[in-house]
Amino acid sequence: MDQQSTSLWRATTAASRFDSLHQKLHVDVAIIGAGITGLTAALLLAERGRTVAVLEQETVAGGETGNTTAHLTVAIDAGYNYIRRKYSVEEARLVADAQRSGLGKIVELVERYAIDCHFRRVPGYSYTEKRKYVSELKNEAAAAREAGLDAKWTEDVPLSFATRGAILWPDQAQFHPGEYVSALATHAATAGVKIFEHTHVTKIEDGQPCALETADGVSVTARAVFMATNVPVHGFTYVHTLGAAYRSYAIAFRETGPHPDGLFWDTADPYHYARWQETDAGTFLIVGGEDHRVGEKDDTEEPFATLLAYAHEYFGSRPESHRWSGQIIEPHSGLPIIGGAGNLYISTGYSGQGMTFGTVGAMLVADLLTGLKNPWAEVFDPHRVRPHMTTREFMTENLHFPAHLIPDRLTTMDVEARAASDVTAGEGMIIKVDGKKIAAYRDGAGSLHCVSAVCTHLKCDVAWNGAEKTWDCPCHGSRFTPDGDVVNGPASEPLEKIEVETGG
Ligand SMILES: Cc1cc2nc3c(=O)[nH]c(=O)nc-3n(C[C@H](O)[C@H](O)[C@H](O)COP(=O)(O)OP(=O)(O)OC[C@H]3O[C@@H](n4cnc5c(N)ncnc54)[C@H](O)[C@@H]3O)c2cc1C
Ligand code: FES
Repeated sequence: MDQQSTSLWRATTAASRFDSLHQKLHVDVAIIGAGITGLTAALLLAERGRTVAVLEQETVAGGETGNTTAHLTVAIDAGYNYIRRKYSVEEARLVADAQRSGLGKIVELVERYAIDCHFRRVPGYSYTEKRKYVSELKNEAAAAREAGLDAKWTEDVPLSFATRGAILWPDQAQFHPGEYVSALATHAATAGVKIFEHTHVTKIEDGQPCALETADGVSVTARAVFMATNVPVHGFTYVHTLGAAYRSYAIAFRETGPHPDGLFWDTADPYHYARWQETDAGTFLIVGGEDHRVGEKDDTEEPFATLLAYAHEYFGSRPESHRWSGQIIEPHSGLPIIGGAGNLYISTGYSGQGMTFGTVGAMLVADLLTGLKNPWAEVFDPHRVRPHMTTREFMTENLHFPAHLIPDRLTTMDVEARAASDVTAGEGMIIKVDGKKIAAYRDGAGSLHCVSAVCTHLKCDVAWNGAEKTWDCPCHGSRFTPDGDVVNGPASEPLEKIEVETGG
């Protein structure tokens, strides 16, 4: 993958080595995706005696699990106050129970398999620097308590700059996600799970059995398929309209001095998050934030620059070691979407709590697949009626779908037409050739890589992401390399390659 940035986790985890799939295979459950969701589900299903295969197009933790910042918390982005208001107190309790159980399951697996992943219990702080957010945070603490969680107001926030107070979430946790997920893969394989890396699933058919095909033309049959792919990569089209893909940015700095213990989130818009992590390579401060909708920033280097300036201002200057960005799926309804239709299952829409919600998704789908009753099934059901959005929510979120779909696809050019010769080295641009929009990237050696600008998912136009050197689709977050290969779904087909007369 032509990716500029590397996360701290990828840089400090030994590479996994599972073969790609060469022979046809039949299993009880085929899991697509070897992130925290897929590998947790694989382990849980193998523990229950199911035959399982995990098919991963990249490597273990090669998706967003490798891009996380791994705050392990029961707090949720949407807020328990929102859930009790828009749904009910009872449902807020179920969500709280799911989050507490997700965190509990991580602790249980760390202990049961003696996973050495620098796991540590730490407090979490949702803090604010602005007086106007104090009552909102106090309401959230009250709603979390009503939902059965331990959350209290504190003015004692262990940061070096002044705050107006925080929700204190005791007994949250942190770990090295690369080490944790690698260990899940090792233990799942020991329990009989067949894991295949560099195995891209290109075709999924529901049935008895379900039929899958890989890019190498190998077929897999399974009684059920779990798409643990961050977003569904087959069917469930309506699910893409229930959420939006955001990019979030993170920078790690070497830490040599003393530092506070805890997970920290502020109330800025876009918000920031920070924590420290010990690793075998030393201790690091990790600062993240500057989220924006995928494909909506012309200059994707700018969020890194803004985040760096923020980190220097608030935490002081330290040597930067790693920077990376990744994809977060924000559900409009505030709740993840987990469940199945026919023999196909999905788990998506975790917001910034994919470590815990990913574990919840694995637990819930494992229960659904083994006929166990699970109290969270209805709350997260993909088919449930979700609350109507407010006009503001609709304006800021849902309208992005038609706004990108209709003008881009049904009118003529809405971007400045450029010629191939305008594309400079290291840059990507949409150019127009014979009336067709082409996504053109010129590499460092001067060669032009041209692909269709039309996303293969539902035909929106892609936009250039200069920081990651990818083509990103603003509609549902698919991303492609400069040569058109899929980096992130829901798209499963590459962008069409196009021959263009080169210039410049
Ligand atoms: C910058 C950032 C910070 C974050 N911080 C936090 C945090 O502090 N706390 C927290 O809880 N969460 C956080 N998250 C969210 C969390 O990282 C994700 O929600 C979570 O990792 C998703 O895990 P997953 O296993 O569902 O998906 P992924 O890890 O993305 O795994 C899906 C896998 O499916 C594979 N795949 C997709 N399509 C196919 C196909 N067709 N064939 C084969 N394989 C396929 C992909 O290659 C990928 O490896 C953060 C995310 C980002 C980007
Ligand atoms: S991701 Fe859906 S149209 Fe591109």
